Amino acid sequence: MSLSEQASGHPRLHQLPQTHQLKALMTIIRDRATKRGDFVFYSDRVIRLLVEEGLNYLPVVAKEVTTPMEVPFQGVAFEGRICGVSIMRAGESMEQGLRDVCTSVRIGKVLIQRDERTAQPKLYYSKLPRDISDRWVLLLDPMLATGGSASKCVEVLLEAGVREERILFINLICAPEGALAMLNKFSKMQIVTAEIDEGIDDRKFILPGLGDFGDRYFGTE
Ligand code: PRP
Ligand code: URA
Repeated sequence: MSLSEQASGHPRLHQLPQTHQLKALMTIIRDRATKRGDFVFYSDRVIRLLVEEGLNYLPVVAKEVTTPMEVPFQGVAFEGRICGVSIMRAGESMEQGLRDVCTSVRIGKVLIQRDERTAQPKLYYSKLPRDISDRWVLLLDPMLATGGSASKCVEVLLEAGVREERILFINLICAPEGALAMLNKFSKMQIVTAEIDEGIDDRKFILPGLGDFGDRYFGTE
């Protein structure tokens, strides 16, 4: 079985439904000819879909309300409180998508950068909500290549007292080796992604991928 098949069958790796709409959006952002304005616009659309899907994995409890017809309705409400944590810089592109669906959501930031020569992640800074250990965490980073950056961020979250089963990594494109490495290292966290790619190259870039997400989104190519 190929790594991509192993990854797509993993019970804690959730792929967005592979609809025509999603495939068309992903084709635009993967196209090297796409200009920055469109890259940002269509990436934001996929990010919105990812955040909406991520919320489906949060637990709910029974909640009864009364409708304007004065009839009780047996519904549900989210069980716990959430926060976002973005891996700077590319992960910051996903913060607005989270804010659009969760009003006043708290967002922590962790600055982890890959060394451009070795691709090894380095932690420079983190600032997390004070009560993060009581929350569900939506970890935000569009690219998962070797998994080194996201793994380092998970370690930061665990050190801050977050329960691993409450970490949901919201990701746009993953390489199967990176996703599987993370899921093997951390046995309870979950990943929600739009597409699982073929692999990574010698420079640890995802193939077919979309190039350097941060550079394309923020215009620093
Ligand atoms: C990119 C990306 C991830 C990381 C993925 O960040 O946003 O954080 O690489 O690669 P990995 O899975 O092999 O760790 P980068 O360090 O290039 O910084 P940027 O966000 O400033 O582009
Ligand atoms: N970071 C990116 O932006 N793109 C990749 O392909 C890998 C890491």
